[in-house]
Amino acid sequence: DMKLVVVGGGSTYTPELVDGFARLRDTLPVGELVLVDPAAERLRLVGGLARRIFAKQGHPGRVTTTGDLDAAVDGADAVLLQLRVGGQAAREQDETWPLECGCVGQETTGAGGLAKALRTVPVVLDIAERVRKANPGAWIIDFTNPVGIVTRALLQAGHRAVGLCNVAIGLQRKFAALLGTAPADLHLEHVGLNHLTWELGVRLGGPGGQDVLPRLLAEHGDAVAGDLRLPRGLLDRLGVVPSYYLRYFYAHDEVVEELRGKPSRAAEVAAMERRLLEMYGDPALDEKPALLSQRGGAYYSEAAVDLAAALLGGGGGTPSQVVNVRNAGTLPFLPDDAVVEVQAEVDADGARPLPVREVDPLQAGLIAHVAAYEDLALEAALRGGRDRVFRALLAHPLVGQYAYADTLTDRLLAHNREHLAWA
Ligand code: G6P
Ligand code: MN
Repeated sequence: DMKLVVVGGGSTYTPELVDGFARLRDTLPVGELVLVDPAAERLRLVGGLARRIFAKQGHPGRVTTTGDLDAAVDGADAVLLQLRVGGQAAREQDETWPLECGCVGQETTGAGGLAKALRTVPVVLDIAERVRKANPGAWIIDFTNPVGIVTRALLQAGHRAVGLCNVAIGLQRKFAALLGTAPADLHLEHVGLNHLTWELGVRLGGPGGQDVLPRLLAEHGDAVAGDLRLPRGLLDRLGVVPSYYLRYFYAHDEVVEELRGKPSRAAEVAAMERRLLEMYGDPALDEKPALLSQRGGAYYSEAAVDLAAALLGGGGGTPSQVVNVRNAGTLPFLPDDAVVEVQAEVDADGARPLPVREVDPLQAGLIAHVAAYEDLALEAALRGGRDRVFRALLAHPLVGQYAYADTLTDRLLAHNREHLAWA
């Protein structure tokens, strides 16, 4: 049986993951699940609920908790990273100061996303080194945002890592419900970078199946558009389905106006987390609460279990999954070492991207633009310095002008000094 470690195990999201491990135990037999977190009280609450979820579902595995990362990763088969440097307080800043310049305030997109990358990359690389030292064969599954940049940092340092996001699995479920099929019957032609993706096609039954995307748009276009909060007419003109993160680009100024007039998502999530932790402390609770489905990461456990099962061998897991991997020629207009989010063949040897159909310049241009930003963002995260931060912001399609890039650089540094060793 497998030993799995969750770094950031004290997250209020963890019961979602534990529920997935419990329900899907035939796909992935977990012998020991170790939750690692520096926050002892959260760990106590989340760990308690995790044990009750396993017990209720008759899962024979053990759940343990610790603050000691090195002890935790010893003998681990896979390590899931879901940490958040600086917590919701740091996220709140990322969502707020960019608005002063008329730029979107978001935790992974734009200047806020750069701040998060700068805080996060060094921490994740340190953890990965310690994982490799304890157990060079262990797989690292990264959910830690920004997933594209963090995965690129891990791969560049030679780690056995795959990046994961729930956007694709969320759309697969949504489309399946609209079309009246099982999610597993739909194969998404998912292309782009993490949080910058489009569904170019939706194949029935597998990669060679009929493309039902035109039917989905014709029959359910209003529902799909409503979910994305984009006009139906725009979807029809695109002819593909963007992820909801594209709204930050296609409706940037509208989003800025909207964000200025309401509390940040971080504040909303912090309030939800207080309620969740209170619930987790109730010894009568033995399942994931419905409130958790209001978090953006709903259903990520299904994707995580599927990916871990495929990576850990034994033939478990879906053979083709949407993950973040080295481009290696898949998108010919990007460098090989960019990290892309596409369907990949996954097994015990890792994840290898599958070929994708030709990408329209309408999408390819933006993908290339943001990939260049990600390259510069990683440089800034690894090597520090005001000038590297400025270069990344100047390269970002949502910033672009030097005066904004300068102001945003100053704001970013002012708000993040305590988290940046070099600043
Ligand atoms: C989506 C994204 C995740 C992100 C989450 C935020 O699921 O794919 O990468 O972390 O939303 O959700 P939250 O509830 O924290 O706003
Ligand atoms: Mn994501």
